[in-house]
Amino acid sequence: MTKFLKSTDLTSNTYKDALAIRMDVFVKEQEVPKEMELEYEDECIHIVIYNDDAKAMGTVRLKPLEDLVMKIQRMAVLKEYRGQGVGRQLMLYAEKVARAMGATTLLLGAQVQAIPFYESLGFSICSDMYLDAGIEHKDMDKKLV
Ligand code: COA
Repeated sequence: MTKFLKSTDLTSNTYKDALAIRMDVFVKEQEVPKEMELEYEDECIHIVIYNDDAKAMGTVRLKPLEDLVMKIQRMAVLKEYRGQGVGRQLMLYAEKVARAMGATTLLLGAQVQAIPFYESLGFSICSDMYLDAGIEHKDMDKKLV
């Protein structure tokens, strides 16, 4: 059965699994500089989704901002598991975690190519385009109330 684990402990296996996926997807595949990838790790809740064989398929992190607002960051699914609803399940779980912590607004910086993915999950564009790590982004938000 699909399983989710979350952790704020940077020595945990959950965090190690999250980081391995992000290194693969962001640093290797998208060529994001490693030092940028590793910012603010100790301020975040790291979430990993596992398949039936306990293999980590995808990850996302939640960064609490000012009260009631949380930012969704580092959303990544390993190439072999994309297009099967894994990212969608992970986003819905992250939303559940944020709601349970009392958040009323979710924010994220979407790579332009991923905007339709977030739109399908109820997020709306709320900024102009900007560059982050050389990649085109737009901010998106979703009210949870
Ligand atoms: N462009 C357009 N639509 C997309 C999309 C994309 N890049 N990725 C997913 N979708 C759509 C799917 O078609 C699906 O729509 P449906 O429900 O109508 O069928 C919906 O979004 C959910 O797709 P899902 O299979 O759950 O997505 P996924 O598991 O492939 O994960 C990403 C999506 C973006 C997380 C994944 O492609 C990924 O890790 N990409 C590389 C890293 C990345 O770009 N992260 C985002 C940084 S902002």
